[in-house]
This record gives sequence, structure tokens and C-alpha cells, in this order.
Amino acid sequence: TFKPLVFSGVQPTGNLHLGNYLGAIRKFVALQENNDCIYCVVDLHAITAQLVHDDLRGQIRSIAAAFIASGIDPKKHIVFNQSAVPQHAELAWVFNCVARIGWMNRMTQFKDKAGKDRENASLGLLAYPSLMAADILVYRATHVPVGDDQKQHLELARDIAQKFNIDFQEKIRAAGTGVDMVVGEEPIHGFFPLVEPLIDGPAPRVMSLRDGTKKMSKSDPSDLSRINLMDDPEEIAKKIRKAKTDPEGLPSELEGLKGRPEADNLVGIYAALADRTKADVLAEYGGQQFSVFKPALADLAVHVLSPITSEMRRLMDDTTHIDAILKDGGERARARAEKVMGDVFDIVGF
Ligand code: ADP
Ligand code: NA
Repeated sequence: TFKPLVFSGVQPTGNLHLGNYLGAIRKFVALQENNDCIYCVVDLHAITAQLVHDDLRGQIRSIAAAFIASGIDPKKHIVFNQSAVPQHAELAWVFNCVARIGWMNRMTQFKDKAGKDRENASLGLLAYPSLMAADILVYRATHVPVGDDQKQHLELARDIAQKFNIDFQEKIRAAGTGVDMVVGEEPIHGFFPLVEPLIDGPAPRVMSLRDGTKKMSKSDPSDLSRINLMDDPEEIAKKIRKAKTDPEGLPSELEGLKGRPEADNLVGIYAALADRTKADVLAEYGGQQFSVFKPALADLAVHVLSPITSEMRRLMDDTTHIDAILKDGGERARARAEKVMGDVFDIVGF
């Protein structure tokens, strides 16, 4: 069997928001306790949708600062940026040849990001999930904490690993670097693990504060739609006060949130921030109006986020510390990736 290893990444594009925090970064922090973890700022992904950026280096540092400010320990685990380890791109190339074009065409994120003019989207945007599979598998990582929006990409990573394992089965056996595993019912000797997504909690997908049917996103043109990690307490309170809701108050049971995406989202956010279940939150606030619940939610959000915000500010004021963390993490990640990539080249026959 494969040794358990956690890997995840965040793109250095735009402001980090509450969805990134609750869907990803907070889980990264919790998983450090009992796992070996690798957390990556995925800068190669940043140029898939938009080629030229104003200050990519600054964006990379700010994601790393958010990791550290949230409580990730870069000494026990690994924090680095993707472009520092060329093996990500090397394995992505092999995976581009494993994956089928039809698989990529089915990705809903590609359809969303490419929009109507698909022929004019970058080839990198289409191949994004192949690079994401390489990010994970170049360490033979087994577990990936992400938001619910990444579920389809993780299934694709499993498909890629499975096809590689099956197509190269004899080569893997000959190289002696594989692991006995079962695919479906069939015992095979595989090289890559089939990754397990870690998607759970009361708010696996945090929705926009302006539209409960859209996910909270860095690219939403309305700043009122999201709470940014760098927002000050007044901004957080204002955005929650202005969050879209329906005229009814809070129900006392989960049933009552059905068909009310905005109410469901706010209760989910409260529950996630408080480390409680939604049912538990409704037991407390059921029957209350949003005029009572929203200020309580704002206080809670400020309480959780403000220590992170101030630590991020401190880290961004003097970048030598963050740069040293990224350099050290890059070297340690590279040492691991080189070994796996050597085995992959051996299997492929280069
Ligand atoms: P991408 O744009 O490629 O999905 P991001 O850098 O935006 O990558 O996302 C980083 C992490 O934050 C991912 O694990 C993603 O699942 C998570 N995430 C992003 N938006 C949300 C959201 N609205 N709710 C929950 N998780 C989210
Ligand atoms: Na996302």
C-alpha cells in the first residue's frame, strides 16, 4: 500500500476569500496533526486563464503568508511554489499523453472559465486538470483536501492514475517500483495511488453572498459577493449585513433550509466557522430574524479571521521570511519529486 500523504494547492490569482479558507486552508491546518503534508502555491496554474499578471511574485508570497498565518508549520511540512519544482511540468506532459481530449472537454470548470469562445481558450486551460493530477501524483500523494468545486478534477486525477497503472502494468512490474493494488475487482501492480478527495464539513462549497446559486469566487466582479481574508472588520460586517436573504427568519430544523440557498449558505458559514453542525446552529438561532443572526455571524467571522489577517499583514511587510520558507520548501519538495520522476521515466522507457 501507499504511505498516506496529503497534498493540496491554491492558485496565486486575486484575493483569498472565505471559500478558500473554509474549503481548503482550514482543512490543511487540521490535517497537519496526523499526516505528512505538502501545500503548494500553484503558480503554473495561474497563467492558464490569464497570461500576464501585474505582480505574480507578490501574489505567490501572499498565498504562502496565508498558509503560515492560518497555522501551517513549514518546518514539519512543506510549503513551496509549483514552478520551483520542474517535475510538476514534466509529469504533466506524460499525463497529457495518458489523458484523452474527451475527458478534458467534459470538465465543467473548463466550460465555465473558457466561456462561449472555447476555440480561443488557452491549451493550458484545457489541460489544467492534467497538471493538477501531476501536482498530486509527482509525490504519489494519497489524500487531497479541497473544496467541493474540485471534485470533478480529482476524479480525473484518479482516471489518469488508473490508465497509467493499467497501460504500463508490465513495465511497472519489470521496474519493480510498483505497489500491489486492486482496480475494480482486478489485482494489478500500479505505480500511482488513486487519490482520495477530502471534501466535507458544513460548508463544502461556500456560495456568493449576492447569489446563493453561484460559488464564492475570486473572479466574481462584485466585491460584496465575497469576504476576503484581508478585509477589515467593518468590511466584513457590511458585506454580511448586505448579504442577500429571503424575508423569512431562520428555521429551527435543517428541513427548513430546503430551497433557500442564501439562508443555507449563511448557516453553513456560521457552522463551519464555529466548528458546529448546521443542525446545532439552527437549534440556537431557529425562529430568529436575520437582523439577529447576521451580526452574530459577522462577529464570529471577525473573531476567526482577524488574527489571520494581522499575521498575514505582518508577514507581507518583510518578505525575507516568506521567501526563505518558499526556498527551503522548494528544495525539499524537489528532492522528493526527482525521485518519483526518475521512476516514471524509467517506466515510460526514456
Ligand atoms: P481554482 O480556481 O483552480 O479552483 P482556487 O485557488 O480558487 O483554485 O481554489 C483554492 C482552493 O479553494 C480549492 O481547494 C478550492 O476547492 C477551494 N475553494 C475555492 N472556492 C471555494 C468556495 N466557494 N467554497 C469552498 N471551497 C472553495
Ligand atoms: Na476553486
